[in-house]
Amino acid sequence: MSDAAALVARDAATFFRQRGSTPCLSALRHVGGTWIEDADGRRMLDFHGNTVHHIGHAHPRLIAALKEQLETLPFCPRRYTNEQAVLLAEALLSHWPGPPARVLFATGGSDAIEIALKLARVATGRFETVSIEGSYHGDGFAALGLAASAHDARLGPLLPGRRHVTPYWVDADRMIAETRAHLAGGGIAAVVAEPMRSSCHVPPDGLWPEIRRLCTEAGTKLIFDEIPSGLGKTGRFFAFEHFGAVPDAVVLGKALGGGVVPIAAVIADAEMDIAPELALGHYTHEKNPLTCRAALETLRIIADEGLVSRAAVMGDRLAVRVEAATGLRPRGLGLLRVLPLPAPWQGAADAFAEAAWEEGISATAKGSSGFGLSPPLTVCEAEIDLAAAALARAIARR
Ligand SMILES: Cc1ncc(COP(=O)(O)O)c(C=O)c1O
Repeated sequence: MSDAAALVARDAATFFRQRGSTPCLSALRHVGGTWIEDADGRRMLDFHGNTVHHIGHAHPRLIAALKEQLETLPFCPRRYTNEQAVLLAEALLSHWPGPPARVLFATGGSDAIEIALKLARVATGRFETVSIEGSYHGDGFAALGLAASAHDARLGPLLPGRRHVTPYWVDADRMIAETRAHLAGGGIAAVVAEPMRSSCHVPPDGLWPEIRRLCTEAGTKLIFDEIPSGLGKTGRFFAFEHFGAVPDAVVLGKALGGGVVPIAAVIADAEMDIAPELALGHYTHEKNPLTCRAALETLRIIADEGLVSRAAVMGDRLAVRVEAATGLRPRGLGLLRVLPLPAPWQGAADAFAEAAWEEGISATAKGSSGFGLSPPLTVCEAEIDLAAAALARAIARR
């Protein structure tokens, strides 16, 4: 048995099985830039990276900063603050285009979504939510309930007051009409949505300004989940900057930790800072100096290397080169794209992901007929060309 297969077998014998995580594809021993390498020495282009690898895997500047942080202040108990946490808060707020805002940090996107929901509940005195049917906002009980109206009954009841609307990529007018009808009931604390779902259907002009207007009118908070799409991935620092609507709160995560440590953040209108007597995101690692340093260094790398505008340029290049190699135009923005699969692969996106993996590109199925293309913002032209050729070979397998 190979080294990778042996680790996969030990993993299978020890971890609980769960959808999306098991069985493992292989076991990794090295990551760097756009590349991952498994325990048998097989190298693959990582066009998935769980959307954490905006600055490329194991960016040397980030690794050096974290080593230094470990040697100076590796932890900070709650009730104390530290320079890294404060600098990170200030850096995130410097990007915020709306009225004065404040932040809270968490260790994962799902937890940060809960912070945003708590803020909206406290600010509105309501508890109901509107979210898009077939969305994803995390795996905790609150975030999970936002994803769909129906869930496996074995999980028991999720949060009350969940309303779900038709996705804009199915029918944007219906999504607006259904949202309007729910908001008219007067009980909705928050509309929660990704401004561009990671299935990469670009929302039509006017969708988010209209939802923004409806939320303002109804006194409902608009929460944008930019856990995969924020921090420059789409060619703008916040994905919502493409769409003409500023939310009351945005949730960031994934790439915020530089692809090395887990950290997520909520940036929200300072008017919601009205409940100092409540714990809203009182997490053990809320202001962990190591995670905050990772995020701060990541923001600095994104700025110093011009990665936001690079994502726009390389995203266009990716679309052009992949279309030239495959005849198929990836949809999406910047470096958050999905390749719509051709007829022989329609309904077989998981099988296509396996074929692509065999051809040296690691990425995931998006729905039953799409394939995610989400390289780091540091991806170079040669890597894009390699990926385009690998995709063409994978398509030709059927
Ligand atoms: C849109 C979106 N929201 C929330 C999450 C949850 O983030 P985490 O896995 O860090 O809890 C994810 C993770 O994939 C996501 O894609």
